[in-house]
Amino acid sequence: MPGPLRHVRLDGGGVTAAFALDPGGDARWLHFGAALPPEADLADLDALSRVGPRESTPDDPAPPGLVIATPLRGWMGPADIEAVCEPGGGAFLFRLADARLDAGALRLDFSDDRLGLALSVDLHLDAETGALTTRRRLVNRSAALLDLACLPSLRMPAPGWAGEALILSGDWAGEAHAHRFILPPGRWSRIERTGRTGFSGAALHLCGPGADDDRGEVLALHLGWSGPHEIAVETVPGSGRSVLLAAKLAPGEIRLGPGEAWTTPEALVLHSQSGFNGAAARAHAHLRKRILPDRKGPRPVHLNTWEAVGFDVGAAGLESLVDAAADIGVERFVLDDGWFRGRADDRSSLGDWTADPVKFPQGLAPLIERVRARGMGFGLWVEPEMVSPDSELHRQRPDWCVHAPGAPQPTMRHQLWLDLARDEVRDHLFGVLDGLLSAHPVDYLKWDCNRFLFPAESGGLPAAGRIVRGVYELIDRLRERHPGVDIETCASGGARIDFEILKRTVRVWPSDSTDPVDRLRVQRWTGLLVPPEAMGAHVGASPNPATRRSAPMLLRARVAMFGWMGVELDPRRLSPADRAGLAAAIRTHRELRGVLHQGSRRVFRTADGADVWLHAAPDMSQLVLGAFRSEASGPSPSAPVKISGLPAGARYRIDLIEPWPERASGRLADPAAWRTGRTASAEALGTAGLPLPLGDPLTAWLVRLTRE
Ligand code: GLA
Repeated sequence: MPGPLRHVRLDGGGVTAAFALDPGGDARWLHFGAALPPEADLADLDALSRVGPRESTPDDPAPPGLVIATPLRGWMGPADIEAVCEPGGGAFLFRLADARLDAGALRLDFSDDRLGLALSVDLHLDAETGALTTRRRLVNRSAALLDLACLPSLRMPAPGWAGEALILSGDWAGEAHAHRFILPPGRWSRIERTGRTGFSGAALHLCGPGADDDRGEVLALHLGWSGPHEIAVETVPGSGRSVLLAAKLAPGEIRLGPGEAWTTPEALVLHSQSGFNGAAARAHAHLRKRILPDRKGPRPVHLNTWEAVGFDVGAAGLESLVDAAADIGVERFVLDDGWFRGRADDRSSLGDWTADPVKFPQGLAPLIERVRARGMGFGLWVEPEMVSPDSELHRQRPDWCVHAPGAPQPTMRHQLWLDLARDEVRDHLFGVLDGLLSAHPVDYLKWDCNRFLFPAESGGLPAAGRIVRGVYELIDRLRERHPGVDIETCASGGARIDFEILKRTVRVWPSDSTDPVDRLRVQRWTGLLVPPEAMGAHVGASPNPATRRSAPMLLRARVAMFGWMGVELDPRRLSPADRAGLAAAIRTHRELRGVLHQGSRRVFRTADGADVWLHAAPDMSQLVLGAFRSEASGPSPSAPVKISGLPAGARYRIDLIEPWPERASGRLADPAAWRTGRTASAEALGTAGLPLPLGDPLTAWLVRLTRE
C-alpha cells in the first residue's frame, strides 16, 4: 500500500543498520556498520546516497542496495528470486506491503500481487553483540505451482570501502587455508555442493584498506547452512557491488503448491572496525549468546581412541588405555570408530550400532564402568547418517540409502548416505541412538559424516535441503530426549562447521591433522567463527600420523591447550618424559581453562612472524598468552611480543609458565628473575613487550599475566 517514505534503524553493540522504506515501492539498505549517532538524519543519508542516471544506464536506475533485487526495476544482476510459475509467470516485482519494527527486529513484508506471491524478510540486530541475522520466507498465494530456483538468505550492498575479500579453503587434514584477494570486476562466486558445509566453510570476509588481525574494517558474512550453498560478490552495471548468500537449490527441489512456503537458512552479518579479531569477537559473542547449546561447567579434557589405536578397540586392550588416560589427567574417554558390530575397517558395518560381540563380548558396559570408576566421562563415535553396503541395516533396508532409482550406487569411503528426508529412516535412527544413550551413561557423541551427498535425491526428486534439515531434526529430537549429552560436529574433520549445526553441537572437530604446525593455522582461522571452548584441539603423536612431521611435546600440548583440549595419541607409547610433560600440560590447562574458555581471544603475529594467541578474562584481571614459532626466525634476537590493549595504568605479574622451551633459559636476560616473577606496567608490555626467545623452530611459550 503506497505511503510516505520512511527510514528505520536497528542499533546495538556499536553497530547501526539503517533502511529506507518506500511503501508500495522498494526497501533499500542505507547503512550497515559503525553506530550512527542517535540524532543522525537518515533522510539526509538517503538523499546523499542517491545517484542519478548516467549514459548507458536505465533512465530510472535500480538504486544501489535494494533489499530485493528484481529486473523490473532495471536491476541487471541475477534476480533475487528465480522461479518459474506455472502456467506463465515472468519477472517478479515485489512491492513493500508492510514493515514492523519491534525490539531490534525488523520485518519487511513484500508482495507481488500480479503473481500472487508474498515474501517476508526478517532482520534482527542484537542489542548487545551487534550481530545482524536475517532470513527470508516466500509464500505462494497463487493458484499455480511455483518452481523455485533461487531465493537467497541475504543480498546486501558490499560496502564501498571493501576492495578485498578473505576466504578459507581446505581439504581432508588440510583445512583453513586463508586466501586474500582483490575483488574482481564482474562476479566472484563459490559454490559448495558436497551436501555438507564443506571444508571451505560458509563464510566470506570483506576487507577494507589495510585490514589485518587487529586493524581495519571487516564485514564478516556467514551462512547457517550445512548443505549446498553459494556465496557471491557481484558488480552489476548501474547498481554497484553487492554480496549474496544463498542455499543452492537443484532444479525441481523446491516446488511450492498453492499456500505453500519455503524459508531460507539464516545469514549472519558482523561488522568490525578492528580487523579479523574484531569480527571473530563478535562471532564468538553471538555464538555464546544465541547459538551454542547452553552448557555450564568446564570442558573436560578428552582422550579419543582414533589416533591411539584406530579400529583396534577390543575391550581387553582398552583397559590399560583407560588407566593410562586417567593417569595423565584425562576427564572423558571417547571411543572412536571400530566399536560396533563387524567393524574391522572402513569397509563395513555402518548402520549396525550395537557393540561388536567379538571385541566387546559383554557389551560396552564393563568398559564404561571402568572409565567411570576412573572418574572419567564416556563418549562414543557415531556416523548415523551413513550405511555400509556390507551391513545388516543395508541388507534389511536396501531402499533406505540415498539413491537414484535404477542407477548404480557409487560409494565413498565404502559407504552410502541414508535418506534422512524420510520419516521412517529418521525414526529408526532416533530409536537406535536413543536406545544407546538410554542403555549406557554416555555423555558425549562424536557425530561424524564422511561422505559427499550424491546423488542428492529422495524418491526420485532432488532433496539435499530436505536431507540436511532431516539431520537437524534428528539431532534436535535426540537432544530434547538427552539434553545432557554433548555432541561434536565432525565431517572427515572440519567439513561441517557452520552456525546452524552449532545450534546443536557444543564442539567442532576442525581437522584430522593434529600436527601442531597445521593446528596453528587451523585453530587460528576456524576461530573466525568458533570460540575456543568449542574448538576440539588434541595432542597428536610425533611424528604426526597425518603429516609425518615430528614436534616436541611442549609445542603439541600448548597448541592444544588453547582450545577444548584432548589427547589423540596412546599415552602408553610415550616416553616417560613426554608422558610427564603431557600430564603437566593437562594440569596447566585445567588451571587456566577458566580464562582460556571465556572472555576474549586475540591472535596476532610478532614483527618477525611468530604466532601469538592471547586469551583474556572479561575484566582483564588475567590473561594467558601462547607464543609459537613453527620455523626458525631470521634475525636474532627475535622480535618481542608486544601486548597492546591492556587497561591504562594497570600492572601485571608475569608468569613464564615452566617448562620453558629447550635452550630458552640461556637466551633470556636474567632467567632467575623471570623465575621468581616479574611485574610490568601495561604501558611497558605494550611498548617494549615481552622479550621471549622465539628464534628456534617448533618453540612454544606459555605466559600468564595477572593484574596486581
Ligand atoms: C573420520 C574422522 C576421524 C575419525 C574417523 C573414524 O575420518 O574425521 O576423526 O573419527 O572418521 O573412522
